[in-house]
Amino acid sequence: MQTVPDPAAGPAGSAVVEVDEASGTVVLRTAASCYVLRVDRSCGAVRHVHWGAPVPLEDAVALPVWADHDNSFAGRSDGVEEYPVEGGARFGVPALEVRFADGGSVLEPVVDGFGVAGAGHVVVSLRDRARPLAWHLHYRVRPGGDVIERWTEIEHTGGTGADAILLPRHASAHWPLPQRHGWRLSAVHGGWASENRLARTEVAVGETVLSSRRGHSGHQSNPWAALDAGDADEEHGEVWATVLAASGSWRVTVQRTAAGRAGVVAGEGHEGAEIALAPGGRHVTAVSAALYGTGGFGSVSRAFHAYVRRHVLPHPGEPRPVLYNSWEATGFEVDEAGQLELAGLAAELGVELFVVDDGWFGARDDDRAGLGDWTPHHRRFPRGLRPLADEVHRLGMAFGLWVEPEMVNPDSDLYRSHPGHVLHLPGRTATELRHQLVLDFSRPEVTEWAREWLRRLVGENEVDFLKWDFNRSFTEAGARGGPDARRVHIEHARGVHRVIDGLRAEFPHLRIESCAGGGGRTDLGMLARTDQVWPSDNTDAVDRLGIQHGFSQVYPACVMSSWVTDSPNPLTGRRVPLAFRFHTAMAGVLGVGGDLARWAPADLAEAARLISVYKDIRPVVQHGHQYRLRAPGEGALTAVQYVEPGAGRAVVLVWHPHAGFGPAEPPLRLRGLDPSARYRNEDTGAEWSGRTLAAFGLPVPDLADGDGDCASALVRLRRVG
Ligand code: DGJ
Repeated sequence: MQTVPDPAAGPAGSAVVEVDEASGTVVLRTAASCYVLRVDRSCGAVRHVHWGAPVPLEDAVALPVWADHDNSFAGRSDGVEEYPVEGGARFGVPALEVRFADGGSVLEPVVDGFGVAGAGHVVVSLRDRARPLAWHLHYRVRPGGDVIERWTEIEHTGGTGADAILLPRHASAHWPLPQRHGWRLSAVHGGWASENRLARTEVAVGETVLSSRRGHSGHQSNPWAALDAGDADEEHGEVWATVLAASGSWRVTVQRTAAGRAGVVAGEGHEGAEIALAPGGRHVTAVSAALYGTGGFGSVSRAFHAYVRRHVLPHPGEPRPVLYNSWEATGFEVDEAGQLELAGLAAELGVELFVVDDGWFGARDDDRAGLGDWTPHHRRFPRGLRPLADEVHRLGMAFGLWVEPEMVNPDSDLYRSHPGHVLHLPGRTATELRHQLVLDFSRPEVTEWAREWLRRLVGENEVDFLKWDFNRSFTEAGARGGPDARRVHIEHARGVHRVIDGLRAEFPHLRIESCAGGGGRTDLGMLARTDQVWPSDNTDAVDRLGIQHGFSQVYPACVMSSWVTDSPNPLTGRRVPLAFRFHTAMAGVLGVGGDLARWAPADLAEAARLISVYKDIRPVVQHGHQYRLRAPGEGALTAVQYVEPGAGRAVVLVWHPHAGFGPAEPPLRLRGLDPSARYRNEDTGAEWSGRTLAAFGLPVPDLADGDGDCASALVRLRRVG
């Protein structure tokens, strides 16, 4: 056996990639898993062999490739090809579909080569036997974690004069799963103000499609999927999960065959979002990241959290500041005097970042006008924004501003002077949503315009933070000219990425929150260039528990912004005590969004105390390991635990949303603690060993402020010996 180890791998035995040329076997190893594929030069097939617990190389090389029974109706390799195309006896979901100028769609793959391309990075190159198309499958194992990244480069290899090739489907990857008797899908669904509802459903034999056709990753679904054989729970069992780093339209197809195989094809663009490749053209897909874990859904979430921190976020180690935002308090009624008053009150509470939301610019008196005119509202900020920014800085806070760069109101100077900047198919009615239209960020002249005013705005006003909003989905969207009008569903978001990347390069201190009417653009594409996400416009602290539970399946607490707003909640009318509202928001990146000018002095004092408690637990919440002890709706209590790396401190948040008589709740069995250490409750002085806290559990703490419904508690534990 001749193996070619990864040249950049560590000391012997720690290689993350192994390639056996003779058998065509490639083994990718993560901390706790192993992914095996086999390249068959004789027929141009790249087949999947194993994804699961580690196996030694000598076995990996000899493992058989699964094949269906041979008959004239079977696609023998369906379900096990690493990147299925159309052509030959293939009847499953293709990862790559093409249309040549003559209408032909069949590909005949030939292997051009495969090997290690860099640290933990393998490339398998294929091309069509006769047509000018090549595609390269990229695999990368990230050190120290369990994530494997995949993406695909598709290349038109024809010379000048050759016809363009249309790609109706251009997925990042197909992730084949092993054969099991049952398959269950975990995914989130929802809508505006109701994002991230986690659902676990049996996978139907056939194809299940999760998708966004909206031009953004969406509130209705999120581009991740986790599969298990129906036997996993929060703490146990095998789980395979994938997440797509895309911010535009996308499609994740889960396929289950009658033979018990399952697989996930993930990529940008909904059905029919074609891309035309000109001769010499190349399309590089988004990254699809996936992992396998044996410790149930909780361990898979923690592995994704670690991946996002280590390999996605620009500034993972930085504590996220406590922010204030008056959107719910003032709506569009922002002006210098009102914001100064709120800034003074926020600073007294210990807020670290003051954000001015919608309404500060153009003729923005409501949502009918002004988007596109990014100069200060002449009546509300007659002296411009700088005096407010200076005062916020003088108060010791960072200064943040809301922007919605991709949008325009038809009632705006921008639209009147540049109607052509809009993302719109000529000759079709332009549907307005929230009285606004989308600007076409796939076009350089539009992104240049955005880059220019953003640079001016940030530079002139010493802006430290942008809340980057996006408040409507695409309609009648299309690129002008060419056969691939719907490529804007991919390219618009990529244009947004480029603008943000440019801005951050020029203003390295700038921090950004991704928002799309709440959580409509929560994805790894945005998180690679922003610092946090606004997960929902629903700030009802009880509803939010479910939204945050779904959010945490993939995304870590350090990016989950959460505000304490007024009671009764403006959206739901629910009355929730201040402590409960704080405890919910303290489970992520704490913010305050209530009308402080109307808060009673006792509430302001309590808020200041809770903000200082949050600052104490912030490193544990934002940078610790998260354990979902009780999911919302699982019983009367919901609880979440965070453990500092090294297990020196832990924080437990407990909520009892609805009063009602029922059996006494069992203790909360804590996770991730050092069994041999003792932990002291920092507020009551009670002490327990880590072993007892795991085996017997933490007795359910006294729940504060529970005036009937909505009682909650926060427990801080510190290792004392
Ligand atoms: C939607 C956001 O999610 C809100 O927080 C707020 O910024 C509004 N847009 C402003 O229009």
